[in-house]
Amino acid sequence: MRRKKIAILGSTGSIGRQTLDVLSAFKDDFEVIGLAAGKNVQLLAEQIKEHNPRFVSLTDSSLAQELKSILKNPALEIFWGDMGLEFISSCSCDIVVNGLVGSLGLKPTISALSHGKRVAFANKETLVIAGNLIKDLIDRYHGEIIPLDSEHVAIHQCVNNAKKEDIKRIILTASGGPFRTWAKSQIQSATKEQALKHPTWVMGQKITIDSATLMNKGLEVIEAMHLFDISHKQTDVFIHPQSIMHSAVEFVDGNIIAQLGATDMKLPIQYSLYYPERKQLPFNLFCDLLSVGKLEFEKPDYERFPCLKLAYEVAEKGKSYPIVLNAANEIAVDMLLKEQISFDKIATIISDSLETHVACEPKSLEEIIQIDKDARNKATELKKRIKQVMA
Ligand SMILES: NC(=O)c1ccc[n+]([C@@H]2O[C@H](COP(=O)([O-])OP(=O)(O)OC[C@H]3O[C@@H](n4cnc5c(N)ncnc54)[C@H](OP(=O)(O)O)[C@@H]3O)[C@@H](O)[C@H]2O)c1
Repeated sequence: MRRKKIAILGSTGSIGRQTLDVLSAFKDDFEVIGLAAGKNVQLLAEQIKEHNPRFVSLTDSSLAQELKSILKNPALEIFWGDMGLEFISSCSCDIVVNGLVGSLGLKPTISALSHGKRVAFANKETLVIAGNLIKDLIDRYHGEIIPLDSEHVAIHQCVNNAKKEDIKRIILTASGGPFRTWAKSQIQSATKEQALKHPTWVMGQKITIDSATLMNKGLEVIEAMHLFDISHKQTDVFIHPQSIMHSAVEFVDGNIIAQLGATDMKLPIQYSLYYPERKQLPFNLFCDLLSVGKLEFEKPDYERFPCLKLAYEVAEKGKSYPIVLNAANEIAVDMLLKEQISFDKIATIISDSLETHVACEPKSLEEIIQIDKDARNKATELKKRIKQVMA
């Protein structure tokens, strides 16, 4: 059988690297045709030597030139910038893995779906800001999105093509992050280093901070609404510190189906690449439930984790609010990572951005981009004011 051709957006990131680990274990079934990275030229060069793609892309032309001089491979086509991402996402591949972080993933997703591709989808921010547009594109060009995020892969398996009216609710689980047991006053003054110490998952910096604020779960609630066509009222978030049950679906007849497995992204990545097939797991990652011993569940605390509450409010309001939520969060997280604000100011910036937003119903990509841009500018202004207070 012909090997499936894979393009990876964000190949040098956490999702991208783990996708390549999975592909290395299944060389008879897949070939890597395209890789898009940001700035990590050295790692991209190593990935190219190992996986031999035809097309690659980097953020700008000087990085592309640097890569060219390292590799001296005339057969390799090197692109850069937005055009590079667009080219890789619409190249002659069967599956595009979207492991980009933030709203940067929107245009390449549109490009892949407009070419009828299957997208193995980790980049939740894109669905948060443009879920309706993405659904229209899938209908129009017959592409598809297969979730890759562990919670949505879990839900995908539990739903298993069940009728929509049979689903009572979806239960998304969250580890609770590093501050699960901390008092509100401790969380407010948490440092960047403390926020980056995730108790159960090793991930990129942005999602790790989002997990500490619980915004990650809020984004996932909105992502689930789009992926599974449900209302936010049909979602619940449970804190589950063991991170073994990745999510569950409760049906109208009282049955709950949950998906359990090791805390390792290679499992959902393998699922997403092979769906609807299943393949023998090539890694020693089978979950020993006896050694896990117990599974605990807690209600999330909106007082200590206001970002999750903000996300639920936005899920209810809809319109352009999710775009503002996401943009303000991206700006605020970036500022925490640069140590320009304290941890508690992430929620302040998002809440202030939402409060002053005049909502509209975005219909086109251009409108979404403009709202995103305006929201970033406003959040940046807010962050400048916070900086002045801190100085
Ligand atoms: N990590 C996980 O375990 C996990 C689990 C579930 C869902 N997700 C979701 O998956 C997405 C990716 O997360 P991650 O943790 O893998 O992020 P990450 O480790 O920060 O990786 C981001 C990737 O995007 C690339 N990139 C950044 N700016 C770029 C640009 N301008 N052009 C092209 N590429 C650019 C980076 O390249 P360089 O490094 O070369 O600059 C890197 O390859 C997020 O939406 C996250 O919420 C992640």
